[in-house]
Amino acid sequence: MGTTGTDWWRDAVFYQVYIRSFADGNGDGVGDLRGLRGRLGYLRDLGVDALWITPFFPSPMADHGYDVADPRDVEPVFGDLDEFDALLADAHALGLRITIDVVPNHTSSEHAWFRAALAAAPGSPERARYVFRDGRGPDGAEPPNNWPSVFGGPAWTRVPDGQWYLHIFAPEQPDLDFGNPEVVADLEETLRFWLDRGVDGFRIDVAHGMAKPAGLPDMVPMDDTGLLDDHGPGDHRFDQDGVHAVHRRIRAVLDSYPGTMAVGEVWVSDDDRLARYLRPDELQLAFNFKLLTAEWEPTALRDAVVHSLAAVDGTPAPACWVLSNHDRPRHVTRYGDGELGTRRARAAALLQLALPGVAYLYNGDELGMPDVDLPDAALQDPIWFRSEGAERGRDACRIPVPWSGSEPSYGFSSGSGTWLPMPEGWTALTAEAQAADPASMQSLYRAALALRAGSPAFSGEGLEWLPSPEGCLAFRRPGGLVFLLNLSSAPVPLPEGTVLLASTDVTGGELPTDAAAWVVA
Ligand code: BGC
Repeated sequence: MGTTGTDWWRDAVFYQVYIRSFADGNGDGVGDLRGLRGRLGYLRDLGVDALWITPFFPSPMADHGYDVADPRDVEPVFGDLDEFDALLADAHALGLRITIDVVPNHTSSEHAWFRAALAAAPGSPERARYVFRDGRGPDGAEPPNNWPSVFGGPAWTRVPDGQWYLHIFAPEQPDLDFGNPEVVADLEETLRFWLDRGVDGFRIDVAHGMAKPAGLPDMVPMDDTGLLDDHGPGDHRFDQDGVHAVHRRIRAVLDSYPGTMAVGEVWVSDDDRLARYLRPDELQLAFNFKLLTAEWEPTALRDAVVHSLAAVDGTPAPACWVLSNHDRPRHVTRYGDGELGTRRARAAALLQLALPGVAYLYNGDELGMPDVDLPDAALQDPIWFRSEGAERGRDACRIPVPWSGSEPSYGFSSGSGTWLPMPEGWTALTAEAQAADPASMQSLYRAALALRAGSPAFSGEGLEWLPSPEGCLAFRRPGGLVFLLNLSSAPVPLPEGTVLLASTDVTGGELPTDAAAWVVA
């Protein structure tokens, strides 16, 4: 294994595999475990330490796998348990650790428990695993409270006998009741099931969900629910104090498998509230989403770094940096798309990988993949349907990865059809073309990851901000790495020393606009 010790994850680079879109091993146009297995060598050569694989469990795919019908099996579209075991063995042999998603907050409406709940009467033990309530108003015809679903519309759906059930996401994703010991025990069983097979850890979906306030009071009304935005203390759907008891149970299981870890998807922007998830008996890591949401602007980026570090200060956790994932527009696109977006994305990669702590890459970051504008007919995200076309959803950032060749599906699949269409004109974006080009995004990532893993300049936690020209960010890591990012409109002088790596040509001794450099004295 690349990084040794039980806390191998403290400075690891994780690579998020959005399983539907990474590599298709059986020609049906949907990525799968066999396809991923065939690309492990690429990931090892890229230089990442660990993978996070998004849900591959049996699912009706109302939310592309985040609606789990059985958390302890493999969806046939993605393979089977033998294929998973083979993937795990191959990855470990190559020194890559494997972490997988768990989705505790809700199940699929096709989960055996939810079917049993629908078949059972109000007040039954079957219904007590979920959040069923009587409605308000005459005949209980109004939902039990005013909570909106994150995907649009109310967070409640009525069943034929008149009760309502809670779903913070789609109606096909009923929320579980974590006040019910059976629910917690089942989560522990799921964790042990995968840990016994040998996984190295988990990404906990909606890790700030799960607990609901007593009495389910109305929340502060809001016009725009905003996917997983943090709406603060008035939003009773998330970040309830009771959630920490669940994290302590998760951690107790992990502690009985030394060397395993969990990262939480915690959309909580207040530094102190986020820190509560990182107490010694809770999550080892929580995504710091501030870089993912920051504008390409010096104050915003600096604040993102300062607050992400402040949130983990005083906790045992390192910071955990994310530029893109499967829920948000990709950073090439956020930063302006085209040449401008790509140029900035190169600089952002050096920022992310220079920062102390953990980095999560999203598949395709290393190729500089942009979002793709899809025609209405191609859209599949429940957000598109639930918002009745008002919001286009997340398909644009989930396009399959282009591997080789000059036509869709660019080596992603043996056929040309893919679950989301791939555009024309992506030849230069393919992994194959970029491997042959020393100036490509992929070559930049390879060089950066090799330096990060091998150079003592990256050692030590924390950073010291350095004086820098107006519109620039500069810091020094304890090991000696000096980082400079130029967000001003004119070139600036490079710091004294040897340039280890730069996001653009710096032979003139100056760092151009929207570029970054790694320097050692
Ligand atoms: C996942 C989303 C998913 C949602 C519901 C999120 O945090 O990242 O893709 O739709 O949870 O499970």
